[in-house]
Amino acid sequence: MSGAPDWTLVTGASSGIGAALARAFAGRGHALVLTARREERLRALAADLAGRVPVAVIPADLARPEAPAQLLAAVEARGIVLHGLVNNAGFGLRGRFATLPAEDLSAMLAVNVAAPTALARGVLPGLIARRRGGILNVASVGAYVAGPKMAAYYASKAYLLSLSEALHEEARPFGVTVTAVCPGVTDTEFPARADVEGTKRFNGPGMAAEAVARLAVEAYLRGDAVVVPGAGNRATVALLRLLPRRLARKLAGRMQRVPGSSSVQ
Ligand SMILES: NC(=O)c1ccc[n+]([C@@H]2O[C@H](COP(=O)([O-])OP(=O)(O)OC[C@H]3O[C@@H](n4cnc5c(N)ncnc54)[C@H](OP(=O)(O)O)[C@@H]3O)[C@@H](O)[C@H]2O)c1
Repeated sequence: MSGAPDWTLVTGASSGIGAALARAFAGRGHALVLTARREERLRALAADLAGRVPVAVIPADLARPEAPAQLLAAVEARGIVLHGLVNNAGFGLRGRFATLPAEDLSAMLAVNVAAPTALARGVLPGLIARRRGGILNVASVGAYVAGPKMAAYYASKAYLLSLSEALHEEARPFGVTVTAVCPGVTDTEFPARADVEGTKRFNGPGMAAEAVARLAVEAYLRGDAVVVPGAGNRATVALLRLLPRRLARKLAGRMQRVPGSSSVQ
């Protein structure tokens, strides 16, 4: 290969796991395209990393249906050839499905499902043609169970895990890796934005985003299909697989409760 850097596009790089993944990839010498809506956060991260690797900032709102194609066009217009894609952007919505605002649900499915699908579809042909590189998808422990009171979020992560595992098999013969990382509770802005702070599931400290990112990047570089970071999260996944589904989903629903309150709004 030429001396051109390996460029990796990281979605949701403005905070939490995405910012930590960007730092971890930079630590491995990857040039980065950073995207999210909060441009000033992306620029601050880019300034921090700039001495080490080339960094491009392309803000995008992935809830907009046209955003993934526009983002890839903007990458191409800069002459950047992607070697890696990190589908990390995502958010959760807590509450009864029947009462959640329909437009919020649509936006969540656009960001958590449609955007990673479109970006993977846009990037994968190039990776396969060049027979190198890969995709890292940020799913969740929630991908392994139905989640009452957070139904569409859990379903979105189940979709992403299933897509990722299938693409892993399709891409592997071409020397291209597709990896899903399934974090459990991680200390980021996610709980506040998803209104899950104080629920049984989020009642206590989680893993550090940096630890999740380090394990995810290691698994991605090894070419693993799936990584569940942290022994506690691996135990949870093992339990969810052993339990009958009807018990597992009841348990998951209970985890959305706030101790001391009788119901979830
Ligand atoms: N934290 C956890 O406990 C946990 C557990 C399992 C899985 N995850 C998954 O980890 C991923 C990262 O979340 P996090 O925990 O790091 O939370 P976070 O700190 O809230 O980060 C979410 C990222 O997604 C971006 N994003 C949200 N909506 C977007 C939109 N419309 N367009 C573009 N970007 C958007 C945000 O950027 P802007 O707001 O700047 O656009 C932000 O960079 C998500 O997919 C989440 O589902 C988190």
